[in-house]
Amino acid sequence: MATRLIKSSAPGKIILFGEHAVVYERAAIAVPVTQVRATATVEPAPAGSGLTLVASDLDRSVRLAVAPEGDPLAVAARLALAHLSAPEPDGVLTINSTIPIASGMGSGAAVSTALVRGLAGFLGHALRPAEVSEIVFEVEKIHHGTPSGIDNTVVAYEQPVYFVRGRPVEQLAVGQPFTLLIADTGTPSPTGKIVAQVRWARQREPARYDALFDQIGDIADEARRAIESGDVDALGPLMDDNHELLIELGVSSPRLDDLVEAARFAGAMGAKLSGAGQGGNTIALVEDYLAEEVAEELRETGAVEVIRTNVR
Ligand code: MEV
Repeated sequence: MATRLIKSSAPGKIILFGEHAVVYERAAIAVPVTQVRATATVEPAPAGSGLTLVASDLDRSVRLAVAPEGDPLAVAARLALAHLSAPEPDGVLTINSTIPIASGMGSGAAVSTALVRGLAGFLGHALRPAEVSEIVFEVEKIHHGTPSGIDNTVVAYEQPVYFVRGRPVEQLAVGQPFTLLIADTGTPSPTGKIVAQVRWARQREPARYDALFDQIGDIADEARRAIESGDVDALGPLMDDNHELLIELGVSSPRLDDLVEAARFAGAMGAKLSGAGQGGNTIALVEDYLAEEVAEELRETGAVEVIRTNVR
């Protein structure tokens, strides 16, 4: 029986460029947000007691042996044990998270990542980011239907990534660090539902949607060049253009548009929604000396939370 206490964690994430189009094999860029994290703590339990999963923020606890089929923590734990070919250990695995839920910040992927790493560590295994990402992708599929795989990838690698579905992940070297403000509308962004809506819309108008996806993919490619060469000035207009295309895809909302406008009005270099949309977060690129002013404008426009992060 394992006797050590194990702790593991995983960051939140935001998509800088390319959400939705990435589901259709176009390029996208995502970065980890380390200010918010999911953590897993695993402690030994008496022999024969099996594994208990505790979601402490939700005040919920379930024994793996009797957990319902679709329970998100149980799904991640079962997949991890199957990957390791390990029997269920005796332990208590507790999850805590400071990542806002259903806000486009990868809370589900981060919780699964922390859980998978924690459980593996408890059993004496150190999994590579690619292995963790693969397991978490399976969990994401159960909860979100047809995810592209970008969320599990950026969270498991904890590095800025350039991602094209079906291709090996590429880690991005950031030429010049830059600052983003992440502003939460406070309205949920149910990823699976919105991805399904985009799929139906594309079925009705394939040529129009594929052209929009192409344009978004081109923006992500241009953004990659700008990020790697340290051309931060080029990123703002690319974010603005990406937001316009997301409006055309039908995934923005008046609250998201208001926050994007407010950020630009207060001096941001560019802004867009981030993640699946309809709610969740916007991101704004700001020069450091203006960050507090832009954050204040975002709060006055109704953002329930503003997180400042430096991409490096
Ligand atoms: C969600 O964070 C990003 C989407 O592109 C869905 C996905 O890539 O799986 C909307």
